[in-house]
Amino acid sequence: MTQQIETPVRKTLGKVRPHQTQNESLVFEKSSPGKRAYKMPPLDVPAVDPAALLGAAHRTTLAELPELSEIEIIRHFTRLSTWNYAIDLGMYPLGSCTMKYNPRVNELVARIEGLAEAHPYRPDSRAQGILEVFDLLQRCLIEITGMDVITLQPAAGAHGEFTGILLVRAWHESQGNPRRKILIPDSAHGTNPATAAICGYQVENLKSNAEGGIDLEALTRQVDEETAALMLTNPSTIGVFESQIHKIAEILHAKGALLYMDGANMNALVGKARPGDFGVDVMHLNLHKTFSTPHGGGGPGSGPVACKAFLEPFLPTPVLVRNSAANDPQSLRAPSLRVLSGERAGDLEPHPPSVRTDLGFPSFPRVVEEKAAERTGDYESLGAPGPDSGTWDSKNPGQLTWDYNRPHSVGRVRAFYGNTGMFIRALAYILANGPDGLRQTTEDAVLNANYIRHGLEDLYELPYKTASMHEVVFSDKRQAALGVKTGDIAKRLIDYGFHPYTVSFPLIVHGALMIEPTESESLEELDLFIAAMRSIAKEVEDTPELVKTAPHSTRVSRLDEVQAARKPILRWKPTEAATIKSPQPLPAGAPENLPTA
Ligand SMILES: Cc1ncc(COP(=O)(O)O)c(C=O)c1O
Repeated sequence: MTQQIETPVRKTLGKVRPHQTQNESLVFEKSSPGKRAYKMPPLDVPAVDPAALLGAAHRTTLAELPELSEIEIIRHFTRLSTWNYAIDLGMYPLGSCTMKYNPRVNELVARIEGLAEAHPYRPDSRAQGILEVFDLLQRCLIEITGMDVITLQPAAGAHGEFTGILLVRAWHESQGNPRRKILIPDSAHGTNPATAAICGYQVENLKSNAEGGIDLEALTRQVDEETAALMLTNPSTIGVFESQIHKIAEILHAKGALLYMDGANMNALVGKARPGDFGVDVMHLNLHKTFSTPHGGGGPGSGPVACKAFLEPFLPTPVLVRNSAANDPQSLRAPSLRVLSGERAGDLEPHPPSVRTDLGFPSFPRVVEEKAAERTGDYESLGAPGPDSGTWDSKNPGQLTWDYNRPHSVGRVRAFYGNTGMFIRALAYILANGPDGLRQTTEDAVLNANYIRHGLEDLYELPYKTASMHEVVFSDKRQAALGVKTGDIAKRLIDYGFHPYTVSFPLIVHGALMIEPTESESLEELDLFIAAMRSIAKEVEDTPELVKTAPHSTRVSRLDEVQAARKPILRWKPTEAATIKSPQPLPAGAPENLPTA
């Protein structure tokens, strides 16, 4: 199964060095006065006096920008790019991050001019294409999660949690008492307790049982009339599916508490199980994990929040609605993505309104003050279509529009409508895979994690023997007995050409090695990874110093992490060596050749 790797140093043909200079100074240090990467054409319009035009805002000294030629800039950034590790170079087994491959077709679709350049202030009547993208993505995600309604607004997973718990709080307030505490298992992602605290709740810890799941008896004892919700990461950060989830929901609901699911690990569930079907009231998704939108320095995130219908009145403003003559209550749920082989999400039936706004709820106290414009109904100042735009007052049945008139909303959580580029990419991924493809993806992700588990469990300690889902968490117990810690093993993995796994997380596993291969990896790549990890386990026994001092193949070896965390240098300051001269007076008479400030 596994390929043998010679230790301590693998014999390879070697690689061409990207450049003779193995160090790269900053662009500021490379700067020489007068160098330009561009040349402007001669002025062919009447010259204006910038001082007269700009008044006090007119600057008289050059901005302190580096001055380089085009080729110097290109080479600088190209060389730097070769120092990085990327999913496009090899496996990125960073547990809890779902570093899957981002298919190129997503990028192609996101760059379609009409989508990429859709302006958020465009009137709805002229933005129907992009609104259809929002609507179809919403309906796909509703179908995938089994929930009733959704908002795409939150900009990341933690932001989704924040929005979801605001909904929980608003609903409890509507019942007369926001309640005091939120229960969070010790296997939860760290953002969960932070979210609960920031929404004004006390966090009460729930201890996991020996299988890594929730202890139902302990839960029953802890839930009371002051419990607002349980925040459950499912599958958890130790890669375990909470098989008692429906009973957990019952215990909570019996006391009037809600079940929040951190759905960031949905890569282990899509197409197999739907949170809406097992009692979840509200959840978030990480599009940048499950639905292949770039992350890890590669792009903004997106954390849509899906919930049951009773939470709908509280969704962030605005909500996407479809003008319709008939607001049939039965049409609230999204239509099914049928699962016949070869059928795609795009083959949906004609759809109902995305959400209904007339659920007949009694009037609730307002939770978060909305902007004055929203209160006074000055929708046009918000960029929404006004009454004469032809879209607001149902003059155009079937058209999509934004509903700002939501008296019970928790308010806005983000400017405009969310990270639109990510919606396009996620939808491209969903449509390209279709229902069967998404299910296959889930199965492959779980299979890959279990393949790694099987390949390593004789050498690395497995603290929880429960079946693994999308990730497997070992501990460094055996290696620590020889003085080598999880961080050392991770750094040695760099020498073998892999990005490290997640180190020392989750906290319930001491010295954790958290490995999530995702479905993207081939059998060959998994075998190489297993071989590397096995080889390192042998090094720990034979030559532990080699591992403890790794990495050996990188530009810099061990960095002082404590110093970096406590005294980070975040700002470049000019030194003697730096060639940039600042500030320089503006050269007279050549305004067209100056970089703008
Ligand atoms: C289980 C879980 N919950 C929440 C988050 C937070 O998501 P984000 O980093 O997008 O805020 C993550 C991030 O990886 C996660 O894995």
